[in-house]
Amino acid sequence: MTSALVALRRDYAGYVDTFRNGQGELPAMMQLKLEHTAGVVGAARLIAQGEGFDETDARCAEAAALLHDTGRYEQLLRYNTFRDSDSVDHAVFSYEIVRSKGWLAAWPAREREAVLEAVRMHNRRELPAGLAGLDLKCACAVRDADKLDIFRVLEERIKSTDWRHDARAFWNLPVNLPPDQEVVAAIRDGRPVDYQYIKSLADFVLVQVGWIRSGLVYATSRRLCRDRGHLEFRRRFLRELGAPPAADELCALVDAEAEREFSL
Ligand SMILES: [Fe+2]
Repeated sequence: MTSALVALRRDYAGYVDTFRNGQGELPAMMQLKLEHTAGVVGAARLIAQGEGFDETDARCAEAAALLHDTGRYEQLLRYNTFRDSDSVDHAVFSYEIVRSKGWLAAWPAREREAVLEAVRMHNRRELPAGLAGLDLKCACAVRDADKLDIFRVLEERIKSTDWRHDARAFWNLPVNLPPDQEVVAAIRDGRPVDYQYIKSLADFVLVQVGWIRSGLVYATSRRLCRDRGHLEFRRRFLRELGAPPAADELCALVDAEAEREFSL
């Protein structure tokens, strides 16, 4: 690891430490964000390797992955929620904190701006047109890596909560409602899902099936997703939720496309 990244990790860890209690523990929700961050960093490294990023691109992608959710700790402390619509846009908040702390002050300006912009835009539905080179690679690597770890987070949550009886496990989304037809249709037609249609746990899971189908930019990300079995998990889970055949057919379609991509 380059010394710039070692210093950045130290700064980030020192910042996170300020949220620990006297026993050195983070509130549980913050601890989960710290673990998520480690997962995103790991995925960003694998993407950089798999895509043959040069040293600068790889360093910036890893830095952006480390910093992408910096604002989550302060967001939870101030607003007691991770819901951006009830508090702050956590990506913009992360950008502002990283910038004000000056952690990247010693980095070349081109790299610093690429990292900061990747942090600021990591949760956007779409990236602005016209990004290229380092900026594009950095932003795409973080967004792919974030999704890959969010897949893990959903699975952990399903395995570790009594989601069928405890509605709080998934933000009170009904577990027995079938998916909204518009959600199924949007994913089948390759259109972005308007999040206002997410009214059930099945919708929420299907949105991730949509990410698997068309939300991962890099072939390495799609390969990782396949190797980690994220689509199969969602297909099984949708059956467990009693979702109608249209949901299973959609999963079969996405599976067949991935099969075609990786069997060549
Ligand atoms: Fe985020």
